[in-house]
Amino acid sequence: MEDQTLQRRAEKLDPREQHHWLDEAPTARAGPTAHRPVHQQGGRAMDAPREQQHQQKIPGYDLGSDKVAKSPISMEEWEELKKSALFSEEDIVYLRLSGEILEDQVQDLLQVWRGIIFDHAHLRAYDEDPQTHKVDTEYASAVAKRFGQWIHDTARAKYDKAWLDYQYEIGLRHHRTKKNKTDNGHTLGHIRARDLLAFSASIVATMKPFLAKKGHSPEVVNRMYDAWWKSMILQATLWVQPYVREGDF
Ligand code: HEM
Repeated sequence: MEDQTLQRRAEKLDPREQHHWLDEAPTARAGPTAHRPVHQQGGRAMDAPREQQHQQKIPGYDLGSDKVAKSPISMEEWEELKKSALFSEEDIVYLRLSGEILEDQVQDLLQVWRGIIFDHAHLRAYDEDPQTHKVDTEYASAVAKRFGQWIHDTARAKYDKAWLDYQYEIGLRHHRTKKNKTDNGHTLGHIRARDLLAFSASIVATMKPFLAKKGHSPEVVNRMYDAWWKSMILQATLWVQPYVREGDF
C-alpha cells in the first residue's frame, strides 16, 4: 500500500513537479519514519546537511565552485546515460527516502567502507606514503569528511550541471591528474580504474542493513537498495572518464 502510493506519486509527477514536492516536503519528524504518510517521506532531509556542510566548509568540497573541472559531457548526455541504467524518477524518490534513513548513520557507513579499505593492503596503499607505507592520516581524515558528504549528495539526487561537473572532478581526484592535490597528500599518486570500479560493489553491498534499520518493509528497502546500485554505477561510470582514451568514453 505504502509502496503503491509512493510509486504512483513518482509516476504521476513530472520531474519539475516532483523536485518541487520533494524539496518542499516537511522535515519535522512526527515519529518513526516508517509510520509517517509516505508522501512525507523522502523530503529535504538531505538538503539540510548539505547546507550545513556548506556552512562548515568541508575543506576541498568544491561542488559548485569554479575550482571544479567542467564535465566533458552535457546534461543531455547525462540524461541519456540515466536511461542506459534504467534510472528513473522513482529511483530519485527512493534515494531521497534513503537520505532520511542514512542521515544519522553516515559515520557508521564510513567506518564499514574505510574498514574494507584498511583491511586490504592493495587498497590501503592509496592512503599510504609509498616509501614508508605509513598511512597519511591527515589526508585520510580530510578525504573521509568529503566521503561523508558524498552520502548526502547521492541521496539528495540533485542532478544539475554543478553536480555533473563535480562527478568529473571526483574522477580526476582518484586519477593521477588530481590525486593528492586537494589535501596535499603524500600517498600513492593514482587509484587504478579496476579498484575504483570494483569498490562500487563494496559500497552498495554493505548498505542493506543500514537501509533496513528504520523499520521499512523489505520491498521499500530493496527499492532503495536498487536506487543506490544504479546511482553508484552511474557515478562510477562518470568517474572513470579520465581513465578512458579520448574519444572512447
Ligand atoms: C567506487 C566507490 C568509491 C566511492 C563512492 C568513493 C568516494 C570518494 C569521494 C566522495 C571522494 C572525495 C571526492 C572529493 O574530493 O570531494 C573520494 C576521494 C578519494 N577516494 Fe574514493 N571512492 C570510491 C572508490 C575508491 C577506492 C577504491 C579507493 C582506494 C582504496 C578510494 C580512495 C580515495 C582517495 C585516496 C581519495 C582522495 C583523492 C584525493 O583527492 O587525493 N576511493 N572518494
